[in-house]
Amino acid sequence: MIHMSVSIGTPLQPSAFRVLLLGAGELGKEVVISLQRLGVEVHAADRYAHAPAMQVAHFSHVHNMADAAELRRLIEKVRPNLIVPEIEAIATEVLLDIENNQTVTVVPSARAVNLTMNREGIRRLAAEELGLPTSAYRFADSLESFRAACDDIGYPSFVKPVMSSSGKGQSRISEFAEVDAAWDYAQTGGRVNQGKVIVESQINFDFEITLLTVRACNPETGEIQTHFCDAIGHRQEAGDYVESWQPQPMSESALEESKRIAHKVTAALGGCGVFGVELFVKGDKVWFSEVSPRPHDTGLVTLASQFQSEFELHARAILGLAVNTRRHSIAASAVIYAGVDADNLSYSHLEQALANPDTDLRLFGKPEGFKRRRMGVATARAETTDQAREIAADAAAKVTVNS
Ligand SMILES: Nc1ncnc2c1ncn2[C@@H]1O[C@H](COP(=O)(O)OP(=O)(O)OP(=O)(O)O)[C@@H](O)[C@H]1O
Ligand SMILES: [Mg+2]
Repeated sequence: MIHMSVSIGTPLQPSAFRVLLLGAGELGKEVVISLQRLGVEVHAADRYAHAPAMQVAHFSHVHNMADAAELRRLIEKVRPNLIVPEIEAIATEVLLDIENNQTVTVVPSARAVNLTMNREGIRRLAAEELGLPTSAYRFADSLESFRAACDDIGYPSFVKPVMSSSGKGQSRISEFAEVDAAWDYAQTGGRVNQGKVIVESQINFDFEITLLTVRACNPETGEIQTHFCDAIGHRQEAGDYVESWQPQPMSESALEESKRIAHKVTAALGGCGVFGVELFVKGDKVWFSEVSPRPHDTGLVTLASQFQSEFELHARAILGLAVNTRRHSIAASAVIYAGVDADNLSYSHLEQALANPDTDLRLFGKPEGFKRRRMGVATARAETTDQAREIAADAAAKVTVNS
């Protein structure tokens, strides 16, 4: 038997075990808190100052991480043991290069980060290499080829820039008359002006889930094992999650199929950490949609439902420690939006929001709000998911955002 030995030094001293977080949003903030609790020295980077995860990290770095030279300089300055990408807008070629030179480990792996940042990379891997069920799809990089792709796929369909997230530049088209407008919208909403889009046939699912999948080291054998959290159900509006709950009730065979798909895709991506596998479910049938090689926004509910939240699971898995995906409660989360375009916001009626003892709040401390920006989340535990959803939504609605 091989006994793996994980050693963590003292933060701010030469023995420090350093993690560099690329992207310092609200999900990163919880990862940082989990790493801090284990005595890790944390550096948080993002393109603006006072980002949520910077507020709890030892060091903050303001950089454009999509710029290869700037990213390289940052990594050379910090000299981290681990690089933990939290966003997709990163010059991933630098990560591939650095991982090849074995100087630092990229979490979960540079390959995973590189393939998932582009919808084409992960879709071709899942559908064409792994043979997993997905919606029908075409890629297009000109208006002409886009029109042909739309007609091929039929209507209704979903159009997404290949480099985008959180619903940016996405539209649902129901007839040919909407095709040109969808193209124009996709061209303005992508992360980089790359022009390429995916057209996907609409899946008429009963519900959609995130299956949080953890690849972690078995400390006794040194082998990587795959663990699953209970399925998380969620509701999206305009490509952004508004509420999530755990567990999502589903048939035994749909759950088995979900695990089969999640296992296959995460094994192909490799490395250790949490993956958010997004799946569409109709009866016993399951389709793969996409996967995040990191904690997932819909997984914020695990702060209230699991012994180890998805953030603790990520921290433990990337450090080579054992994980426990067990759920102790039925819970739900509901998003709190700024509702205004303004900075210096304040939040009131918190006592009303938290009057129910089974509720909790996370306020992310973002320095600037805009109407549809996620500023916080309310969670609730209850006897049923329906009750938990209602209580969480109620708590979120009670929080008043003042400018
Ligand atoms: N082919 C499809 N059929 C049915 N619904 C879809 C399809 N593609 C996307 N959707 C709906 O749109 C939502 C957002 O799509 P997707 O996850 O691909 O985009 P995203 O920008 O990566 O969103 P996020 O960053 O919030 O995960 C999905 O969760 C689903 O509700
Ligand atoms: Mg998604």
